[in-house]
Amino acid sequence: MADSSATPASGKTFGVTIEKLSKSFDGVPVLKNVSLEVKPGEIFVIMGPSGSGKSVLLKHIAGLEQPTSGRVFIGEFDASDPATRDKVHLALVFQAGALFNSMTVYDNLALYPREHRLCSEAGIRERVMHALQILSLEKSAGQYPGELSGGMKKRVAIARALVMEPQLLLYDEPTSELDPVMSATITEIIATLREQTAVTTIVVSHDRDLAIAIADHMAILMDGRIRAVGTAADFKSPADPAIANFLSPTIDLKNPRFKQLENDYE
Ligand SMILES: Nc1ncnc2c1ncn2[C@@H]1O[C@H](COP(=O)(O)OP(=O)(O)OP(=O)(O)O)[C@@H](O)[C@H]1O
Ligand SMILES: [Mg+2]
Repeated sequence: MADSSATPASGKTFGVTIEKLSKSFDGVPVLKNVSLEVKPGEIFVIMGPSGSGKSVLLKHIAGLEQPTSGRVFIGEFDASDPATRDKVHLALVFQAGALFNSMTVYDNLALYPREHRLCSEAGIRERVMHALQILSLEKSAGQYPGELSGGMKKRVAIARALVMEPQLLLYDEPTSELDPVMSATITEIIATLREQTAVTTIVVSHDRDLAIAIADHMAILMDGRIRAVGTAADFKSPADPAIANFLSPTIDLKNPRFKQLENDYE
């Protein structure tokens, strides 16, 4: 990765406070009384099984979902208030990348500053090329997402977030579907960007190696509730059997899980 002197749009970094957040869809509870504190400038990793509510939680921080009850604050600003987006530069790297396939990599990155008329076309070019350089993607500026590997698409999605000069950077499953080396590379990128820009970083992930390597703090979400919060070191040998089983599942061919799933439905 190229060296960079990137800094957030302003020197300000924001913490995130989640207070007794609950969310139901059509009466079905997904988040249940979730409270968390993310400090300014830290990397906070949220782990948990599929369907436990991680993406829904991240969308509340990004202001894309409204709480059923409870509140989410970015600094002193309410995340569900649309005006907060004018006060905090926030970027979300979506689970599936959410790139526009009909646009080149360059145009994908230029879209947000163009739509928000953030600066002149020359200024946009500078921002876009700078972000591409940070992710070592300069040569891909003219390519379309369909021509890129999964790892490159993830890097483009991160570069697009950087163009927003974020003060709060949210990643949803940044290493899913990648090989172990590319996962490690993306993990290094996330940590390096935080080092260089002091951007508060919240990562939703299943990737235990990522969490242990770069989290200042991490939380485990299970069935919509926070099961545990601590430093990465606290989760090296967890006492809670449910967490130990989630982080280091054993493969038991004599008593396989899918048989238990069948029993659950009987
Ligand atoms: N807009 C929605 N309407 C109804 N139900 C939803 C909606 N969004 C999420 N859900 C439900 O909320 C639950 C949690 O979903 P979520 O996407 O947050 O899981 P997740 O922890 O991110 O899972 P994964 O690890 O597989 O990405 C799921 O049962 C899902 O079907
Ligand atoms: Mg998800």
